[in-house]
Amino acid sequence: MALFLCSLFIFLSSATACDSCLHQSKAAYFNKPSALSSGACGYGSLALGLSGGHLAAGVSSLYKDGAGCGACFQIRCKNSTVCSCDGTRVTITDVNHNNATDFVLSRRAFMAMASHGMGQHILKLGTVDVEYRRIPCEYKNQNLAVRVEESSEKPNYLAIKLLYQGGQTEIVAIDVAQVGSSSWRFMERKYGAVWDTSRVPSGALQFRFVITSGFDGKWIWAKNVLPADWKIGVVYDSGVRITDLAIEGCSHCDGND
Ligand SMILES: *[C@@H]1O[C@H](CO)[C@@H](O)[C@H](O)[C@H]1NC(C)=O
Ligand SMILES: *[C@@H]1O[C@H](CO)[C@@H](O)[C@H](O)[C@H]1NC(C)=O
Repeated sequence: MALFLCSLFIFLSSATACDSCLHQSKAAYFNKPSALSSGACGYGSLALGLSGGHLAAGVSSLYKDGAGCGACFQIRCKNSTVCSCDGTRVTITDVNHNNATDFVLSRRAFMAMASHGMGQHILKLGTVDVEYRRIPCEYKNQNLAVRVEESSEKPNYLAIKLLYQGGQTEIVAIDVAQVGSSSWRFMERKYGAVWDTSRVPSGALQFRFVITSGFDGKWIWAKNVLPADWKIGVVYDSGVRITDLAIEGCSHCDGND
């Protein structure tokens, strides 16, 4: 398995602007375990439920003004003395404003790049050369979920946070309507993974999401998500899963074309 991944990395080598192509950079880590869960995406403590605490702050080209929140990456470090071949998987929960490294990882994720028994050695290095590429997020037992944020206020204001966004896409638009109605109202990205509207339909609510997929967007309908008595702080199951892979505008990663 380790061998297979290494050769895959080599095959894809040489970076382009494509997310799923291989990129060369550096990664550092946060010493404080809580640093990333209070990150710009707004996941709070729920971040720890993503990728088993393997979290990452990504530079702005990965954070994408919040559209990159929840995106998953395979990342491995390149020091053959301390690093394992297959590295680890991380989820973006924060923005990294320091462009000296593409990623700042949670301590747990950073150590997970080390080979057996080398955890302390990799910490000592502090910053390491890495290669990474975007991969689909997989939530085996979890649908896309909608959490009602504390700032929400009935009847007019609703802010929601999206959790467990699978696949390898970006959510580019969200509309909300009363269940059974076709009077859709658009929501806006407030920050990170949080979207809001100050024109909240009454009653139980359905959502439709536009995700990047194929060459155009794709609609995903979640037909009955919030009950009429939706409550702040509650996570509601959308009943749908996103498993799509967006087709990227670049055709080759290997630079040999
Ligand atoms: C690789 O790791 C070893 C062991 O920690 C260290 O001595 C060496 O300087 C590292 N090499 C690089 C290029 O960072
Ligand atoms: C990185 O950040 C520094 C300081 O903020 C800035 O001067 C430099 O232009 C940036 N480099 C890139 C490639 O964005």
